Amino acid sequence: MRFLTGLQPSGQLHIGNYFGAIEPAVRLQEQGEAFYFIANYHAMTTMESAEKLRENTYGLAVDFLACGLDPAKSVFFAQSAVPEVNELAWILSTVCPMGLLERCHSYKDKLAKGFSPSHALFAYPALMAADILLYDSDAVPVGKDQKQHLEVTRDLAGKINDLFGENLLKVPEAIISESTAVVPGLDGQKMSKSYGNTLPIFGEEKAMRKLINKKVVTDATPLEAPKPTENSIILALYKLFASPEQYQEMIDAHRRGGVGYGQFKKDLFETYWEYFRAAREKREWILAHPEYVHDVLTSGAAKARETAAATLARVRAAVGLVWC
Ligand code: ADP
Ligand code: TRP
Repeated sequence: MRFLTGLQPSGQLHIGNYFGAIEPAVRLQEQGEAFYFIANYHAMTTMESAEKLRENTYGLAVDFLACGLDPAKSVFFAQSAVPEVNELAWILSTVCPMGLLERCHSYKDKLAKGFSPSHALFAYPALMAADILLYDSDAVPVGKDQKQHLEVTRDLAGKINDLFGENLLKVPEAIISESTAVVPGLDGQKMSKSYGNTLPIFGEEKAMRKLINKKVVTDATPLEAPKPTENSIILALYKLFASPEQYQEMIDAHRRGGVGYGQFKKDLFETYWEYFRAAREKREWILAHPEYVHDVLTSGAAKARETAAATLARVRAAVGLVWC
């Protein structure tokens, strides 16, 4: 079973990314062959500068490795290290109806956010399909927001197979984990960069303590009074980091009253800080050894490229690009 997924290098990772994407990907490494890549071509569709793109790509590599991506188990690479993906994207584009892309929510969402309507933004799903199909992926773990792109991928693979030969491209399954609850942001909406309500995985200690203390929204129940446990942002976040016993204790303390939100926020900070302690230490080590990141990505790219070359040779021959 080959799992493949891509993450866009779009800035500092937050705990929504961790519980929604990184941690599930790290767990899947134990269950099959994993291909994980940094979707830097995709990030170009919304990136403000070359410098930012470089910085975010390196930063994501460091953070993913710190969070448990194991290069002995996974093939880890930057999307742009395998430029062959663009050729497959082109071939897929030739069978991709305009209407299919026009229906994609992500394009419309990006325009609504003020991005200019570039060809790359519009063709984004065709490149994503190429990412997946190039590596003969069996299963693709993604968030719900990417479900439609997986449907496009399956559709395009089906069209190519109908036109140029059965089983030419492997038709992948999406793994959309309904059980991965949406992590709430500090204000209670979905945690997202675009809402400015995130808790970074790797923030600076003082700043993170202050962030939790100042930005996690609570109601105005006085210290002595019992506090509601329904719709509590503190409790929802605490649950991600605390043991079941610690979580139950905090619920009990809410019900009893006599403990203020300041204390609960302090407890939330402490468990959060402890939860990422090992990852933070590993990150420090990785940051001090840039050659490690370089070696991991170089060897990942070489393996990815081998698989990619085989698929592309098969497809090029089948579609008529090889003539003698
Ligand atoms: P953002 O909304 O901050 O821009 P992205 O869209 O880049 O985050 O998300 C990258 C990955 O992290 C996706 O797989 C997405 O499903 C997951 N993710 C992002 N925010 C959350 C959240 N609040 N809860 C669960 N998963 C999330
Ligand atoms: N579009 C994905 C996102 O924004 C990133 C991505 C690019 C991807 N190519 C992929 C995910 C291939 C899975 C498979 O999250």
